[in-house]
Amino acid sequence: MCGIVAAASQSNIISILADGLKHLEYRGYDSSGIAFIQNKNISSYKKQGNVSELTQSLDKKLNANIGIAHTRWATHGKPSKENAHPHISNNNIAIVHNGIIENHLEIKNKFFKDLTCSSETDSEILAHLINFYRKENEIFEAVYLALKEVKGSYAIAVLDKKNPEKIIVARNGSPLLIGLGEKINFIASDAQALIEHTNKFVYLEDGDLATVTAEEVKIYNKDKESIRRETKKSKLSLNSNSKNGYKHYMLKEIFEQPEAVRATIQDRIINNSVPKEILGPNAKEYLSKFKVVQIIACGTSYHAALVAKHWLERLAGIPCHAEIASEFRYRRHAVQKDTLLICISQSGETADTLSALREIKEEDFYVGTIAVCNVPESSLARECDSTLITHAGPEIGVASTKAFTTQLAALMLLVIVLGKRFEITAELENSLCMQLKSLPEKIKSTLDLDNKVAELAKIFSDKEHALFLGRGSHFPIAREGALKLKEISYIHAESYAAGELKHGPLAIVDENMPVIAVAPNNVVLEKLKSNLEEVKARGGKLYIFADKKAGFKNDDISQVFEIDAPMNPVSPILFTIPLQLLAYHCAIIKGTNVDMPRNLAKSVTVE
Ligand code: M6R
Repeated sequence: MCGIVAAASQSNIISILADGLKHLEYRGYDSSGIAFIQNKNISSYKKQGNVSELTQSLDKKLNANIGIAHTRWATHGKPSKENAHPHISNNNIAIVHNGIIENHLEIKNKFFKDLTCSSETDSEILAHLINFYRKENEIFEAVYLALKEVKGSYAIAVLDKKNPEKIIVARNGSPLLIGLGEKINFIASDAQALIEHTNKFVYLEDGDLATVTAEEVKIYNKDKESIRRETKKSKLSLNSNSKNGYKHYMLKEIFEQPEAVRATIQDRIINNSVPKEILGPNAKEYLSKFKVVQIIACGTSYHAALVAKHWLERLAGIPCHAEIASEFRYRRHAVQKDTLLICISQSGETADTLSALREIKEEDFYVGTIAVCNVPESSLARECDSTLITHAGPEIGVASTKAFTTQLAALMLLVIVLGKRFEITAELENSLCMQLKSLPEKIKSTLDLDNKVAELAKIFSDKEHALFLGRGSHFPIAREGALKLKEISYIHAESYAAGELKHGPLAIVDENMPVIAVAPNNVVLEKLKSNLEEVKARGGKLYIFADKKAGFKNDDISQVFEIDAPMNPVSPILFTIPLQLLAYHCAIIKGTNVDMPRNLAKSVTVE
């Protein structure tokens, strides 16, 4: 959700910023911009549209040793050149900002009543405020004083014309890190932007400010005291950012799932048992105490939460609630004593999930917090008591695919560990571990459906609506299928628990409404079959993804796609695969931007 990259060097940084923006584009792609100091003046270039619009417009001869750049996902003000960052105040100060200045109108009324802003953004006012304080203070103090007025979240990088060697940065609620190099230092909202240049990073914490020059980085806490933050070595590689011969990141990431799931479970299953040590040393305390589990997450991660809820209750007998983080945060809960909180997030930077976690940490009823997360250095991973990393590797496509299936694999490991004090016997643990270990090969065979699903997509591509049905732990998979389809093909898709159909949604079923059913061979199979008969009777067209042994046959109303997903708890992971492929192929036929669908961003760092 907006990306920042900046650098201070003894040599030209223009191409570093341009390349960095390209790597950050998945965070936002409405508009982008760059500002740098050249001949003691601030120059800037901005463009609406994706980053290549900007980079192609840059004069190849540009040369500057210090600069800041930004790719935007619009919150305040439409995508446009005017609203693109950097925002410049009086040719003195340039800033790039991620986050939201919630009190920007109050600041304007207090300090700049008569000012006509040149953009509709909340960010521009911060540039003016820093410039205001700059008149009587040196730049670090000016930034500090300006931020004292701000309510909301920010990661900022600031250029000051009078200090052409220095970038001032600050973070509160939006991620920001400093990359360390030789005679060059960098700033970015995530490490991927800089991995070509360095693997040494210092992660700023909320309230931190820093000054960055080519030679030196100085970090201060919210009270302006000089502090040290640990330097971490990133394991990211340049390769992880490439499409590896695939047409889109999303397709590459779909096909990486066998390996991603294998990486997530391997070393965590020993002799068909999952040691509690996978949760690290802090787990000892809460594992013996917790009685109830609360899961919070957003989007696709929330769908993983719903599957985990089924698993925790059905397999382990542990009471579990799962809720969307943005809803959870703004309501009063009747929390049971000794609740364990699990936060699920691919990025670990989702503002809704982080805010909910931070509030909960203030309450006494929670005995511990666990992050299920794909980014080890993320805020979520750092702020929870324990972290279970999903080893999906970087996920660049905005639509979450391998992050979801690895979340599910990690959650099953977690269910086993948590369930040992409850109803998970050694025998059940053994069987669940065997099922997990069989997943990589089973996912591989499910991917063989690709060509058939690509054919099916031809039927969908001219449809405006679609209905996804499932039951039990496969209902969240139907939800995920619907989310994928609407997210990247823009076809309106709804999902329902199949038994709920007759309570209303059946009214929209006719021959123009494709109905996709997720049909495992489980205890509710016969119930699901009856629900699907209700669709047939109304002339609806059925596309059924069914286990081989579920007994579905093709006829003139239904088309069946067989999956080898025997009746076992991990089967939701397998049923996810063809739904991802369906969304992908529909998007290809419709010609949408698969990896960067309109209006969306990969990491949602605003509430
Ligand atoms: O990084 P997170 O898992 O916290 O992100 C949550 C959602 O924004 C994310 O899953 C979103 O729904 C995906 N784009 C869906 O494909």
